[in-house]
Amino acid sequence: VMKIIVVKNEVEGGQEGFKIFENAKKNGAHVFGLATGSTPITTYNDIIASDLDFSDSISINLDEYIGLSADNDQSYNYFMHEHLFNKKPFKKSYLPNGLAKDIEAEAKRYDKVIEDNPIDLQILGLGRNGHIGFNEPGTPRNIGTHRVSLTQSTIDANARFFANEDDVPKEALSMGLASIMKSKHILLEAYGAEKADAVKGMIEGPDTPDLPASILQQHANVTVILDEAAASKLT
Ligand code: F6R
Repeated sequence: VMKIIVVKNEVEGGQEGFKIFENAKKNGAHVFGLATGSTPITTYNDIIASDLDFSDSISINLDEYIGLSADNDQSYNYFMHEHLFNKKPFKKSYLPNGLAKDIEAEAKRYDKVIEDNPIDLQILGLGRNGHIGFNEPGTPRNIGTHRVSLTQSTIDANARFFANEDDVPKEALSMGLASIMKSKHILLEAYGAEKADAVKGMIEGPDTPDLPASILQQHANVTVILDEAAASKLT
């Protein structure tokens, strides 16, 4: 069941997203699934500005690049500290370890983390191609944490953040769709016209691995926050 909230812009969207975190906390949520990227930043800013206290809560992030250390300013670990954890510490924050020697073992370890800490509220952004986490179109739906080869277009898009194209990570570790679907409540935010096709497919299109986010049609409790541009293709 998808509840859809359309707002004017991502500042208002951030406020709506914040209210969902606030309510979840009030109702005893303890484990929060978190995302990086530009989308959740307004919600994180409202969390930082609030008196919500996460010092007893657990966070579990969706994904991390392989090969970047936590103190590399392009790592998702670094991003989360910059945009949330430095100002709103959690009791314990989990991210995949992009420097793990044995990536398969690291994926298993991460699945165990998720199994031991069932996610009460998972926040998601949406890729232009309908990806969630690093689950790109065609990703099997029944898998947990796994190694992902980034598409050339993602590598190209990331190249601007790095001194050399060779420094751009080519792989990532991502939570799987099966794990995301186990979250009790999912909050997906999407802003901007470039997300409008993915939004339409996610909500109105067929439920298909070609558009990973369409799997959310099967989830019992999803809240979608859109700005008018992202909602513009909905009928
Ligand atoms: C981030 C993630 C990605 C992003 C998506 C949207 O941890 O897993 O799925 O949510 O690529 O990115 P932005 O928000 O930058 O448009």
